[in-house]
Amino acid sequence: MAIMTSSTTFQPVLERIAEEIERTPGRGRPADYIPALAACDPRSFGMAVADLDGTVHGVGEWRRPFSAQSLTKVFTLALDLAREGDALWEHVGREPSGNRFNSLVQLEYENGIPRNPFINAGALVVTDRLHTRTGDASGELLSFLRTESGNPGLTFDQEVAASESGHGDRNAALGHFMASYGNIDNPVPTLLEQYFRQCSIAASCADLALATGFLARHGIRADGTRLLTRSQAKQINAIMLTCGTYDAAGDFAYRVGLPGKSGVGGGIIAVVPGRCTLCVWSPGLDERGNSVAGVAALDRFTTLTGLSVF
Ligand code: DON
Repeated sequence: MAIMTSSTTFQPVLERIAEEIERTPGRGRPADYIPALAACDPRSFGMAVADLDGTVHGVGEWRRPFSAQSLTKVFTLALDLAREGDALWEHVGREPSGNRFNSLVQLEYENGIPRNPFINAGALVVTDRLHTRTGDASGELLSFLRTESGNPGLTFDQEVAASESGHGDRNAALGHFMASYGNIDNPVPTLLEQYFRQCSIAASCADLALATGFLARHGIRADGTRLLTRSQAKQINAIMLTCGTYDAAGDFAYRVGLPGKSGVGGGIIAVVPGRCTLCVWSPGLDERGNSVAGVAALDRFTTLTGLSVF
């Protein structure tokens, strides 16, 4: 098996993966619980790899914006952890849930403390805490993504945010239930508005691979300043590996062997610490809400390059 030594060899690998994906029949189904996402073509595909220095390689629709959705949970976690440090962990756990991303069932047994920051309940807690600290969690997130990606054109997709708000009963239930345990500071409608705006951000594979770079650079932002301690960057990568693809995290670790985070828009971001970051997008999802072609492409990337954390 070839082991990658130089970033210049990423491009042929990406092209080979795209050809293989193109020949794969059946690619899952786009999320249908958010009407604005249901219309996506499941055969769309794009993939980008960003080096530590910000050089990006891509294939397919790697410059086309898509709905970032739960990929944003990685960035809000980083922004909040940078501010409040370990106090966050009194309000959200760090264990895989083994349940669907929007499940309510564990919350009552576990006294309103979500299992981890990447299921919806945990992400709501993180956004709530970031909102308390900044006064505008989604604005803070958008500004961070614009800076790290070098793309000032990144924006909220108002149609997606409105669509989700109109179908947001489950997230509202999670928010109110946690508020009943005193684990939410802001009024729940304010929190939901922030969360839906956060999820609606539209960005491309290139943008998101670049924005994830601080996790491969052990906490260092694109401009060389530090966002997280080396230890905090390790912690987020570890939570991505164990919780980033919900109740499929074990299978993702087995197949891909990298910290990764999926979203129902069909995106997955992944990190090779000390080496590069990836973002792949294809909107057809499996029954657990992960992109079918996205997982397959990352599986092939780590196999073809020999790059993984194991
Ligand atoms: O909370 C929701 O339902 C969505 N806006 C985000 C969910 C999501 O992307 C979960 N990922 N697989």
